[in-house]
Parts: sequence; structure tokens; C-alpha cells
Amino acid sequence: MFLNTFLLFLLFPFCISIDTIGPNQYVNDGKTIVSKEMKFELGFFSPGNSSYRYVGIRYAKIPEKPVIWVANRDNPINDSSGVLTNRYGNLVLYAYKENLTIWSTKVSDQTTTSTSAQILDTGNLILVQSNSEDFLWQSFDYPTDTMIPGMKLGLNRETGLDSFITSWRSEDDPGTGDYSYRLNLTGSPQFILYNGSTRHFRTAMWPWSPSPSTTPYAYDYTFVNNQDVTYLIDSSNKSSEISRLVVNYYGTLQHLTWNDVEGQWKEKWAAPKFRCDPYGHCGAFSGCSLDNVQSECSCLPGYQPSSSENWSEKIWSDGCVSKQVEVPNKCGKSFVRVEHVKLPDASISALLDTNMGESECKKACQNNCSCVAYSSLEIDGGGGCMAWYGELVDTLILAEQGRDFYVRADATESAENDRKSRGFLRRRGMLAVLIIPVLLALSLIMLAYCWFIKRKTEAGRLRRTWGRQYSHFSTYNESMVENKVGQTSRHPDLQLFHLSTIIAATNDFSLANKLGEGGFGSVYKGQLSNQQKIAVKRLSKSSIQGVEEFKNEVTLIAKLQHRNLVKLLGCCIEEEEKLLIYEYLPNKSLDFFLFDQSQRSALDWRNRFGIITGVARGILYLHEDSRLRIVHRDLKPSNVLLDADMKPKISDFGLARIFDGDQLQDETKKIVGTYGYMSPEYAAYGKFSTKSDVFSFGVILLEIICGKKNNASYQDDHSLNLIGHVWDLWREQCVLDVVDFLLESYNIDEVLRCLQIGLLCLQEDTTDRPTMSEVVLMLSGERALASPQRPAFIFKNTCNCHNSSGLSITGGSYSANDLTVTKVVGR
Ligand SMILES: *[C@@H]1O[C@H](CO)[C@@H](O)[C@H](O)[C@H]1NC(C)=O
Ligand SMILES: *[C@@H]1O[C@H](CO)[C@@H](O)[C@H](O)[C@H]1NC(C)=O
Ligand SMILES: *[C@@H]1O[C@H](CO)[C@@H](O)[C@H](O)[C@H]1NC(C)=O
Ligand SMILES: *[C@@H]1O[C@H](CO)[C@@H](O)[C@H](O)[C@H]1NC(C)=O
Ligand SMILES: *[C@@H]1O[C@H](CO)[C@@H](O)[C@H](O)[C@H]1NC(C)=O
Ligand SMILES: *[C@@H]1O[C@H](CO)[C@@H](O)[C@H](O)[C@H]1NC(C)=O
Ligand SMILES: *[C@@H]1O[C@H](CO)[C@@H](O)[C@H](O)[C@H]1NC(C)=O
Ligand SMILES: *[C@@H]1O[C@H](CO)[C@@H](O)[C@H](O)[C@H]1NC(C)=O
Repeated sequence: MFLNTFLLFLLFPFCISIDTIGPNQYVNDGKTIVSKEMKFELGFFSPGNSSYRYVGIRYAKIPEKPVIWVANRDNPINDSSGVLTNRYGNLVLYAYKENLTIWSTKVSDQTTTSTSAQILDTGNLILVQSNSEDFLWQSFDYPTDTMIPGMKLGLNRETGLDSFITSWRSEDDPGTGDYSYRLNLTGSPQFILYNGSTRHFRTAMWPWSPSPSTTPYAYDYTFVNNQDVTYLIDSSNKSSEISRLVVNYYGTLQHLTWNDVEGQWKEKWAAPKFRCDPYGHCGAFSGCSLDNVQSECSCLPGYQPSSSENWSEKIWSDGCVSKQVEVPNKCGKSFVRVEHVKLPDASISALLDTNMGESECKKACQNNCSCVAYSSLEIDGGGGCMAWYGELVDTLILAEQGRDFYVRADATESAENDRKSRGFLRRRGMLAVLIIPVLLALSLIMLAYCWFIKRKTEAGRLRRTWGRQYSHFSTYNESMVENKVGQTSRHPDLQLFHLSTIIAATNDFSLANKLGEGGFGSVYKGQLSNQQKIAVKRLSKSSIQGVEEFKNEVTLIAKLQHRNLVKLLGCCIEEEEKLLIYEYLPNKSLDFFLFDQSQRSALDWRNRFGIITGVARGILYLHEDSRLRIVHRDLKPSNVLLDADMKPKISDFGLARIFDGDQLQDETKKIVGTYGYMSPEYAAYGKFSTKSDVFSFGVILLEIICGKKNNASYQDDHSLNLIGHVWDLWREQCVLDVVDFLLESYNIDEVLRCLQIGLLCLQEDTTDRPTMSEVVLMLSGERALASPQRPAFIFKNTCNCHNSSGLSITGGSYSANDLTVTKVVGR
């Protein structure tokens, strides 16, 4: 009987793609069946270096074909005598030589004969009764380590079926491994990546919080939760994209998509990946924030480290404890808001009511002393209230997105927190940032004082008081001891120069020494009598901007020190002249190289990538790492200078605006910037934020890769600017066409990554744009990239706002394409 069917099978021509195993038909080792559109195939395989044989499903069409499902993962066949048969209504895997049943679907009793098994184009292997639509069995119900679109992970309460994915044991062994990703219904439902039975990573997924950094499901996954079922499904039905979610044998959860252009699988998201990802990294009652570079963990408001020694040693696992001594039946009635969080582990939480508003939610938590925190949610458009009873574990503080939640704290704590406005972690950072410079400044003054006393008694040459030199803008002191190069006085980090010194150094601002025009005036090259080369920026007398911006620039730059920022050596205010003296950089500015074909070939990909990352780091420093939050507002290639090694240094902080503490966005009546680099919200409404600089960075990035100006025209469509052109080709999946033809060789990976980052930076919605710290992480490949939305300003001259009245242009003799404009917006 067995041999009969075997012969029958031999009669079929093999080249025809068959997707079905009919009654008593079978597939033996070496043969496969393929779905109708040839998307998936079912057959025998040996993984990695293994010689064992397994039956599995894998992709059929694409060159790299990972196995997505294995029938006999824990029961391999050790020779090639395996046969997958459809016998008595079941699919049965049989080892012929050993006369052993290896695996079976075990759904039909022995009397059924009229079933057929079919591999579908979704990747699902189904077993159906003839004349019936219903599946007797489907491989989607018994996933291995991979979830693909259409598959459901979770619980079906009617059938009791709990589907989850479990890692392979190793690359060579598809056997059931240690890591699994599954639904846990304790408290509120959530999906957890387990290592054995311990929690390894928790996806923030319910209550719904679309934050790409904490879940892979930001857009394409749907969570269904009702009386009958609780499951997660990849509902992306873009037929163009091939994607899968895998639990790897080394313990990460990975979302991958197939990239046809590069012919390989690309990681779109993975976890645990960052410091804060491992479950409960900071212990109980604490929050983990990647923004806090030194120490990622902080106690939640009202809590303190349970062991301050361990905490200072960065041993976080002990977590935090309440500052208050426990008094039974007496608990604080107030709450402190913590913003942008991945909500803590929901296994100690309860959803109180789906129709509660914020204040009712607060009241409900207030009235039960065991409630430690609450969060008011909108679920499916309605209200909702989630409350936690017990230890708050695995809370992440995100830079943006996420949810707000409220932690119970005693009244003084909450009052204190209210006063200090925003996110508690940021505030802690700010405190350190304020105290350290103050201490430093104090000790500097003490040192200087001691030195001065010593000098005075020793030589008695200084006649005036030292104190006056500390004022930046006090008239300098004629009788001050002059050193050889002629600076009159020396602030701890800023020199005041004589005008005569500068006139001598620049040959009375001779045209031959002129380097170019900056935002507020001309820049001259000069040489001091000690041979040191300098660049002098001469503030134009006619400019509307005057002392204000000048002071701004001087005080700002004096405080900023970073290898990707131009160093300010000093300044000079004398007889109407306002001068800034910078270090001299021999290689001019980026635009000099970028927009000149003969110069541009000097920039190979290494140089360009170095410039991109350097500029990103410089901006990051301005935005986040310096003592002040600074928005540059006029980032463009001519403001990026290059040193002898082609390392970039950002110049021109005259427009920078000090942001005090929490101020994230400001509105300005004066718009200062350069068309082509200005973000839409800034050009149109005068709204600026760090995200406006991110936009300008995106433009510069594209210009560096393409070697073209944003405002030039592109090919067939003359209305498109560079952004629009790149976006078009990106959507057509041939974005590499935009790469500068002068780049002879480059790293495709890096170029594609940069282009994608560029597009992410150019998105219309400021919240969609990454922060500079994210950009830096993405550039180094430490962070997965999102899919960019349509960028803003894809057409030339989108901004016709410069025709409105009130516009004035500074820096007179500029080429029309590169005007720095100043516009007063009426409000
Ligand atoms: C297979 O074996 C070779 C040689 O021993 C080794 O280099 C390679 O890493 C192995 N591959 C896998 C997937 O284990
Ligand atoms: C294959 O496995 C069977 C039992 O499972 C065993 O008897 C046989 O020796 C094995 N053959 C080889 C070549 O390992
Ligand atoms: C194979 O095993 C079955 C029982 O599992 C037995 O009835 C049958 O006789 C065996 N066939 C051979 C050829 O050993
Ligand atoms: C869910 O989590 C709880 C609490 O950690 C645990 O006791 C339980 O075993 C888990 N359930 C499943 C199905 O993993
Ligand atoms: C998983 O748990 C095992 C045993 O506790 C441990 O050795 C291993 O390092 C864990 N894996 C990861 C990725 O942390
Ligand atoms: C595809 O998506 C649309 C809109 O989200 C939905 O209405 C439709 O049912 C989906 N189709 C499939 C086959 O899932
Ligand atoms: C501090 O850490 C050590 C080692 O991890 C641990 O043994 C000790 O219990 C911790 N101390 C407290 C007070 O939790
Ligand atoms: C407080 O909440 C807990 C957990 O839901 C519950 O067991 C307890 O009965 C509540 N206590 C009061 C006084 O409502």
C-alpha cells in the first residue's frame, strides 16, 4: 500500500508546482511543495551544519530563505528516509528506515480519509476536510520561532489554544530553546519575552502606547482583547513588504523586513538592545532613561535608593523604597506626574473602568491605600483608568511619546515636584549641571585671587584691580599688563583684543584677507604677531542686528567647548567695531567643497561620513550636552567649517538662542535663517525648536551625499527640490541613484542608512523627527531606523513667504540662493 502511493507519486511530473498533499499522497526527502504564487515552500531541510533532517516551511521566492516553521523541531530524523504523508486524515511524518512515526497533526481519527493538506501563499500549512471550508488544523496555530503577517499570538478562550513563539536552541538546532515570547494575562494582558521562566523583556503594548522604541508594533500590529480572545496579529497587509518577527536563539526579539534592493534581511527593530531594555533593569520604584548618560536609573518621585552605596556603584537591582515610614491606613493623597513613560509591568495592575475620566481615575486610586500609581488612558476612543497595586517595575522614561502616569507621593514631595515643572529625571540632570559649574567657577575665582595676591606682593606691577577683568564688556584696562600679541586682558576663557592688534593682523581688513560673508558681516583671515592664524568676524555696522546678537554670540561661544564647534578665541569692542576672533581653519567651509565639482572629488565617502557624524555630534552638544540648550537656527554647509583633517566644526552661533531649562519650543517674531534649510514650522510660523535644527541637518546630510544643493532642480520634474527628488527615488526603491556620481566607492549600508536618517529628519511633523541623540545612535547603527513619512518642502520655492512685507536681508552681497534672511512676522 505504501509502495503503491510511492509509485503513484513518481508518476507526477516533478516540475509542476504542487501546493497540496491529497489523501494518501506524500512528499519524501528531497521534494517540496510550493504555494500557488510560489511565496512559500514546504519540504525537508538540515539547518546550519546539522545533518539531521527536519520538515519545515520557508520563503520560496527570495534568495535568502529563513525557515519560518518546523514540524518536528524536537524530533529530528537522522537520515534521508523521511516521508510526509497524508494518511487517515492526518499529516504524518514518518521515518521509513526506522519504521517510526516522527510527528503527526493528530486531529483526525483513523477513519477520516478525505482530507488534504495545502501550503498557502500566506505561509500557512492547512489541513481541510474535502467539501468543507473549516481548517482541521493549521501551522499558524503552532508557531515555531517566527511570527509572520496573518498569524495570531495569544489566547483563544474558546479552544484553549495559547500560541506563542519559542527560539531555536542554536543556529544548527531548531529544537525548543530557552526564549519565548508569549502572552501573560496576570493583571492586565501583556506580551513578554521570557528567558526560561524569568522575564527578559517586556513589550509596552497594552494599554496601547505606540512608541517605536518600546514595541515593534507601532503601526502594523493589532491587539485584540475581548471575552473570547486576546491576541496580537501582524495586520500589515502591504503585499510589497515581507516581514517577520523572530525570537532568536541568543535571546532577542527581532523584527525584520526583506530589502529587495540590497538582497538581504534588514533589522527594523530589536530588543533587548539598549541599557534600559532588560526587564526590571533599575529595580523597583525607579525609572530608566537613556537620556541620562551617566546613570540611567533614578528613583520615582517620593522614593529613594534602597541602598545608596549600591546605587552609587551603579548596582541598580535593589531599586528604590518609599521615603516615608509606613503608617497603616494612612497614605499620601497626592500624586506626581511622570511624563513620557513606558508604563510599568502590568501584572500588578488592574483596569478599573473603561469609562473613567482623569479625575475619577485619580479619586479611585486615592481612595485605596494599596494603589501606588495610576494612568488615565484612552482605549479605543473611550476613557480608561489603570491602577497599580504593588511594586512598580520596569518603568522607562522616554524622550518623547509614551504615556503620562501618576505616582503617589506625600504632599511635600508633590508640591516640590509641581514647582519644578517637568520630568523628574531631566530635573536631576539640571541640578547637577547647575551646581558643578557654580562650584567650578567659585574655585576658579579663589585660585585666581590667590594667584593675584601672590603676584601683587611679589612684583607689585599690577596697579588696577583684577576684578574688573571679569566683566566681559567692561572697557578694557589700558594699564593692564600687555602680553606679546597685544590682547589687553584675559578672561578665564575669553580674551579681549585691541582693535589696533586686529587691524595689524588683517592688514586693515584688506580685501585680500577676506574669507567670506557670514550671517552678520564679513570674515577676515589674520595673523597675530606671534604667527598664530585667526579668523576675524567683523559685524557689519549697517546690520539691523547689533550689540544684542553680538553679546549673545560672545557669551554663548565662550562657554561652549566641543571638537565639532569652532573655538572662539576672543573679541574686540572698540569704536563702533564689534569683532569676534576665532581659531582659523585652513580648509574653508563645507559649501566650498560640496558645490564645486573640482573640489568635491576631494571628499571621499570616509570624509563625508566623518563630516556627517561630526556635525551631528556638534549639534547634539548644542542641544543636549552643553550647559545650555541651544538651537543654532542657521545650520547650512557654509556654517560648517573644515579643519586640516577635514573634521567639521560648526560656526556662527550669532543666531543661537539660549533655552532656559524646560523651554522646548519658542516663538520668535524675527525669523532668521536660510531658505532651503529652514524647517516648515520655522519658515511659516517662526516656531523653532531643536527639531528645526534637526530639519536643517537633514538637508545638509542629503546635500553631502548627493553633492547637490537642495534648491537646484532635478531631472524630469523641475518643480522638485533635492528633498523631493530623494523622496521620489526612495519610494521607488532606487534611492542609491541620488548618490553623488563623483563618489567612486562607498559603503552602501552607510549611505542607505544616512539617506533614511536624512528623510527621517525632514518629516513634516516635528514629533516624527528624531532627536539629535537618536540621530547619533542611528548613525552608529545602534538604533533601528523607522520608515520615513513624506518629508516637508519637497517642492522648490515652497516657501513663498519671503514675499511678504517686513523682510530684510543681511549680508548684502550674497548669491541669491544662499541668503540668510531676517523676517519680522506680524503677530
Ligand atoms: C559550520 O561549521 C564551520 C566549520 O566548522 C563553521 O565555521 C561554521 O561557523 C559553522 N556554521 C554554523 C552555522 O554553525
Ligand atoms: C538513527 O536513529 C535510530 C533510532 O532513532 C538509531 O537506531 C540509528 O542507529 C540512528 N542512525 C544513525 C546513523 O545515527
Ligand atoms: C512498523 O511499525 C508498525 C507499528 O508501529 C508495525 O505494525 C509494522 O509491522 C512495522 N513495519 C516494519 C516493516 O517493521
Ligand atoms: C504570568 O506572570 C505571572 C506573574 O509573574 C506568573 O506567575 C505566571 O506564571 C505567568 N503566566 C504565564 C502563562 O506565563
Ligand atoms: C538567560 O538565563 C540564563 C540562565 O539564567 C543566563 O545564563 C543567560 O545569560 C540568560 N540569557 C540572557 C540573554 O540574558
Ligand atoms: C488590509 O487592510 C485594510 C485596511 O487596514 C483592511 O480593511 C483589510 O481587511 C486588510 N486586508 C487583509 C487581507 O487583511
Ligand atoms: C548591595 O549589593 C550587594 C551585591 O549585589 C547585595 O548583596 C546587597 O544585599 C545589596 N545591599 C542592599 C542594602 O540591598
Ligand atoms: C484596594 O485594591 C486592592 C487591589 O485591587 C483590593 O484587593 C482591595 O480590596 C482594595 N481595598 C479597598 C479598601 O478598596
